[in-house]
Amino acid sequence: MGDDAGFRRVCLLTGGGDAPGLNAVIRAFVKTAEQLGIEVYGSEDGFEGLIQSGRLVRLKRKSVRGILPKGGSILGCSNRANPFAYPMGGEDGSAQPVDVSEAVMMRLARHGIEALVLAGGDGTMHHAQAFMGLGVPVIGVPKTIDNDLSATDYTFGFDTALSTATWAIDALHSTAESHDRVMIVELMGRYAGWIALCAGIAGGADVVLIPELPYDIERVIGHIRARSERGASFSIVVVGEGARPIAGPRATLEAEREGQLERLGGAGQALADALQGRIGHEVRVTVLGHLQRGGSPSAFDRLLGTRFGVAAAHCCKRGQSGLMLALRGEQIVEVPLDDAVLEPKLVPIDGELMSAARGVGIELGAAHGAAE
Ligand code: F6P
Repeated sequence: MGDDAGFRRVCLLTGGGDAPGLNAVIRAFVKTAEQLGIEVYGSEDGFEGLIQSGRLVRLKRKSVRGILPKGGSILGCSNRANPFAYPMGGEDGSAQPVDVSEAVMMRLARHGIEALVLAGGDGTMHHAQAFMGLGVPVIGVPKTIDNDLSATDYTFGFDTALSTATWAIDALHSTAESHDRVMIVELMGRYAGWIALCAGIAGGADVVLIPELPYDIERVIGHIRARSERGASFSIVVVGEGARPIAGPRATLEAEREGQLERLGGAGQALADALQGRIGHEVRVTVLGHLQRGGSPSAFDRLLGTRFGVAAAHCCKRGQSGLMLALRGEQIVEVPLDDAVLEPKLVPIDGELMSAARGVGIELGAAHGAAE
């Protein structure tokens, strides 16, 4: 900690997968920090820049010029660079996870870096906590398109992803109608159905299946048939990537291993396979994938990222640590890091959003409150 209680030199990194709005955070943090007399270093590709040498860059006002409308992160991101289980060795593919946090601590000391500012999701906030445990002051900034961090009303990135997903549902309507097809669109969000449910409502989907509520395929079939009987020639089905049938597994592309979450994917195709031949329509699947993470951030995400970045710089000036910034109502507040990593924020299955969906006739794949 600096003489005047504040930090004089800090390192900012963007951990995990990218999300629209990261550059707004970087820009706001660097500009405010410079005004407050704080030196900022950026770690390239998440923690990679603190693990490998030569990958810390000095960030100044001019480094962040013109980046506000850009997607991604000028620093780069990585969801493989876990300092507590970093894959080492094994050119033949036999890499083993190794704890390299000591090397990170040494690099911080060598560069005179007094605090870390970590913009990331759940995984990055867990790393933040672990570094706190090692004695490094840390400030967390909540980022993820999944919007699944419980301590904040919204993470930045979610709003842009939601707009992209809604645009996709809109676009699928006309082609679905032209061909009398059932169009399935698989959306991201991991184990949280925020993107799927909100985009499904905003885009006027007919069926929305989210991870929080395992679905009964017979209800989905019944709903599509009933629509056909009422003269609707097509249906739009939104499925969150983490959704699963009542009696079946979640669709995955890669199993979990140490330091690495399982990779979800295939929920849309699994649903298509179960529907094919049972509804009198052709079925097509669109996996929106990383389009949801790309592109220019929405005004909401730029604004939220900017507010978080400014607030983080002020926290550094005050020498605060062990906290994550959060949006609560209209306010940016500081919450203890411990609260930030408690439980993921999932869609309440008996909540108002679900009843809004039911209110406009969306089939949710299970009876009210039927989750296991
Ligand atoms: O957490 C953000 C997210 O985009 C999830 O919605 C998705 O499951 C995952 O990251 C994809 O990760 P990757 O970019 O490693 O494929």
